[in-house]
Amino acid sequence: MVTAYDTPTARLIETAGIHVALVGDSCGNVVAGYSSTIPVTMEQMIYHTQAVSRGCDATLVVADLPYMSYHRSSDQAIKNATRLIQSGGAQAVKMEILPAQVSHLKAVVDAGIPVMAHIGFTPQTLHQLGGYKIQGKSDSAANLIADLAAAIQAAGAFSLVLEMVPHHLAKRLQTALRIPTIGIGAGPHCDGQVLVFHDLIGLSEKPPKFAKAYTNSRAFMRDALELFKHEVESGDFPPAELS
Ligand code: KIV
Repeated sequence: MVTAYDTPTARLIETAGIHVALVGDSCGNVVAGYSSTIPVTMEQMIYHTQAVSRGCDATLVVADLPYMSYHRSSDQAIKNATRLIQSGGAQAVKMEILPAQVSHLKAVVDAGIPVMAHIGFTPQTLHQLGGYKIQGKSDSAANLIADLAAAIQAAGAFSLVLEMVPHHLAKRLQTALRIPTIGIGAGPHCDGQVLVFHDLIGLSEKPPKFAKAYTNSRAFMRDALELFKHEVESGDFPPAELS
């Protein structure tokens, strides 16, 4: 799974044969310049989901329900999940889940909308968690995460993102659960892996430690911009025959 926020990226993800395009609320930090995902709204998620859906024919499009869009009640969760499916064109939604939201997840699933859950480090709960920290380090914290994962599976989620949990905990969950686990900063024992597109292509200024850049887009995009500037100033662009 790889994140996408626009149509050209969605088309690339599809062409590369990646199974899932995640319209992450990471669009907040990654492309909108916010310092977290918290300011991202439903309207912004619908806009990005529409753009990604237009670029995907065969690839599963999963869209994030953003901050406080499903926390108040099951009705609110169903209403906003419906908007991402009906207006956005996604086939499934992703919800960051704390124990209090398991009933809301179940309500969305029972309404007929597939849900991918997300536990461990949950960026929307950044302030409650006290910063970007690995979750589930102690035995008791790991047990709470394992209990939550079991409740999420029982509630009907079709898959589970594990973010920033110790490798041994990811392995324990992958073994215990029937639904697939998708890791990010959770080690090699998950069924799948997810990366933020801009981290993967080397465009992010400060990627997280667990990310891997498979190319250096920042360098070659900057080179292209500098060459354009240079050619305009030198008169080499546009060439006379194109004018
Ligand atoms: O918003 C996002 O991009 C995510 C992934 C990092 C899993 O939730």
